[in-house]
Amino acid sequence: MSKYRFSFPPYPLGWYQVGYSDELLPKQVVPLEYFGRHMVMFRTESGKVSVLDAYCPHLGAHLGYGGTVEGEDVRCPFHAWKFNCEGMCTSVPYGSEKISPKARIDTWHVVEINGLIMVWWHPEGEAPMFEVPLLEEYGHEDWTPYETRRWKVRTRNQEMAENAVDTAHFHYLHGTQNMPSATMSTEGPIMRAQSTTVMETPMGSVEGVVNVMALGFGFTLVRFTGLVDTILVNSVTAIDEEYCDVRFSFIVKKSGGRSITKGIGMAFVREIERQLEQDIPIWENKKHVKPPILSDGDGPIGKYRVWCRQFYTDPNAQP
Ligand code: FES
Ligand SMILES: [Fe+2]
Repeated sequence: MSKYRFSFPPYPLGWYQVGYSDELLPKQVVPLEYFGRHMVMFRTESGKVSVLDAYCPHLGAHLGYGGTVEGEDVRCPFHAWKFNCEGMCTSVPYGSEKISPKARIDTWHVVEINGLIMVWWHPEGEAPMFEVPLLEEYGHEDWTPYETRRWKVRTRNQEMAENAVDTAHFHYLHGTQNMPSATMSTEGPIMRAQSTTVMETPMGSVEGVVNVMALGFGFTLVRFTGLVDTILVNSVTAIDEEYCDVRFSFIVKKSGGRSITKGIGMAFVREIERQLEQDIPIWENKKHVKPPILSDGDGPIGKYRVWCRQFYTDPNAQP
């Protein structure tokens, strides 16, 4: 067995959340650290979000620490050079020479959708190969705003995403009454899995259907249909080779009065939190076994791992 915990690279390609829309106001500048890189994210005065590599090409200041937005540009705190959303230097406030075309910063593809700010990551810098789907229920009057939770977990995206198809662990680790039977299908970067589950709520046990739709490893929708419909947006973004930033954002369909929506919605949130906190010590300490020894009672783990391969440009690379 390999001495490494993982036999795949740390940063699979895809769309990954780096923030929430409502946490980035116009003129706000925020440093980011993902994929082992340093970046700066800002919102211009007109409301556009831009993500650039962090360092100023002049003398290397990090634009996320003291940088300011002026109109549609970000201004470096060190000597006040300005850069636009495309990373081009637009102004040097002293000196008389023409601005060098080399005075530019690499930019990231950004989308702002479903209340999330997401960037495209590709190990070789290729343009986006698929789009993030619109979650129509988000922002709809029949649904609550996001209830959010966040964790920093010492594992990799692929390991966490395997949770959905690992049916046996739901009973033995999470204590669910039965082992859900999952059906799984894939279509390009999308994986869908459906299972049934029984959840304990203040109103007693509720039988529900769980539909998972994963777009690569960065954006997963989990729809729980039962007494109250709930949707979980699950985002996992690699910080570096060791850690992932995990954000859970829940919306609940309003029905039967606010207290019922709140009661059952919160029971669902607590149940998912409880399960995640049981998963974390497993993920933080396990290693990726390849090939695994499976029993016929296991979920579609082999099929899941075949789907995973498309997100690596070199799936056999050692860390
Ligand atoms: S380091 Fe940014 S302007 Fe000098
Ligand atoms: Fe789990």
